[in-house]
Amino acid sequence: MTNRTFLVHSSRWALMAAITLGCLIPVNAHEGHGHKPKKVLDEDAYRPTARPDRIILTWTADPTTTQAVTWRTSTEVTEAFAEIAIATSGPEFPKTAKSLTAKSEALKTNLGTAHYHSVVFTELAPKTKYAYRVGDGENWSEWFHFSTASEQPEPFSFIYFGDAQNDLRSMWSRVIREAYSDAPKAKFMIHAGDLINTAESDGEWGEWFGAGQWLNAMMPSVPVPGNHEMAKLPEGGRKLSHHWRPQFALPQHGPQGLEETCFTMVYQNVRIIGLNSNEQLDAQTPWLDKVLSENKCPWVVCTFHHPVYSTAKDRDNAALRTAWKPILDKHKVDIVLTGHDHSYGRTGLDTPLITTGNVPTGVNTTDPKTGTVYVVSVSGPKMYNLQTQPVMKRSAEDTQLYQIIHIDGDKLKYEARTATGEVYDAFTLEKQPGKINKLIDQTPSTPERRRQPGSVPAASASKPSTPAKTAVAP
Ligand SMILES: [Fe+2]
Repeated sequence: MTNRTFLVHSSRWALMAAITLGCLIPVNAHEGHGHKPKKVLDEDAYRPTARPDRIILTWTADPTTTQAVTWRTSTEVTEAFAEIAIATSGPEFPKTAKSLTAKSEALKTNLGTAHYHSVVFTELAPKTKYAYRVGDGENWSEWFHFSTASEQPEPFSFIYFGDAQNDLRSMWSRVIREAYSDAPKAKFMIHAGDLINTAESDGEWGEWFGAGQWLNAMMPSVPVPGNHEMAKLPEGGRKLSHHWRPQFALPQHGPQGLEETCFTMVYQNVRIIGLNSNEQLDAQTPWLDKVLSENKCPWVVCTFHHPVYSTAKDRDNAALRTAWKPILDKHKVDIVLTGHDHSYGRTGLDTPLITTGNVPTGVNTTDPKTGTVYVVSVSGPKMYNLQTQPVMKRSAEDTQLYQIIHIDGDKLKYEARTATGEVYDAFTLEKQPGKINKLIDQTPSTPERRRQPGSVPAASASKPSTPAKTAVAP
């Protein structure tokens, strides 16, 4: 071995030894050298830049011909644009892209001020895949795809989430991503309120958008507000988070004062109705009745935050049931999707005939004439006690869930899946001419998930919110 060869070999050995030793240094040894990890602050993690983020698709109008998109930038972006083209298999589509100028507004949050921009694409062709991007002319998002709805009642799926609310980045992200991996072609995602815990926390909204990431830019969302989207006012009372309207472009045809929180839209053969169960219940009753009276869709899906049938006795929403259930009964709404109770419960078709607040839940009066199925679900990690209710055909405690609902002609197939993708609850509704829906129960034989004796509620340390008793105002 020459001196030079020896030196080369020695260096290699020294390098390998250093790497090996480095690998063996205990992680906590760093603390002995004065290095303490620092938490990344929300104002750093969620600081807006000129590059668009929090991009989300929603609808303000007909999903066959329109699509709304909203995004966020730093305040230096004062003019923003969206470009759109029919997507092609090759990279040539940008040559045919049209540009639209966004409507922009400033939003002052607890972390600073950002600009929110929105564009509504109109005059789109039904059942067509589009590519779009958003930006300021220099800083652009990637090109995203979305597809318009068909004018025909073709089969499709959608996803429904109960409360996400807590630990959105660490614990809810896995649920929305598992749901996407199970139903990547779903046409939209319903969020039944309490998307976040603190109405005016920009960091929490940042976590919520971060969990969905690019999925929000490709699969439209249909959100309704829960009590946690209602911010406390210094003078008392509550008001819808001032994040809500700048960041979600939704229909404004609800009763006055409930714009973008009470709305309806039609996706193929399904009428979707989103209600605001936090306020002005009585104003929404005649509106709901009118929408349902004029409805021509065979399927009706209603979503709002507070349950008609709670999964715990001390969380009953009698005022809501008094206001809305007679209308839901009258029009034989097919399914009602809610949250708020941080557990799972689903009724069958023999739902008790309860329309006022004077009758306790679970009485043996039944109404076999409506066929409405009521669901309470939770997707985030905050868990409350479940008190099994007689009306619930399937319940769960301490379980994060998402639901995939598939509609094909006269059949609606429902599946609730756990955060790990296992089917936990399932049924099929079938339309029957002149009769209420037929329910085919497909509940798996797995035991109901209940908290183990002696264990504490899972995950979040968040305190339960005050349950609504005689009214649903938070
Ligand atoms: Fe809630």
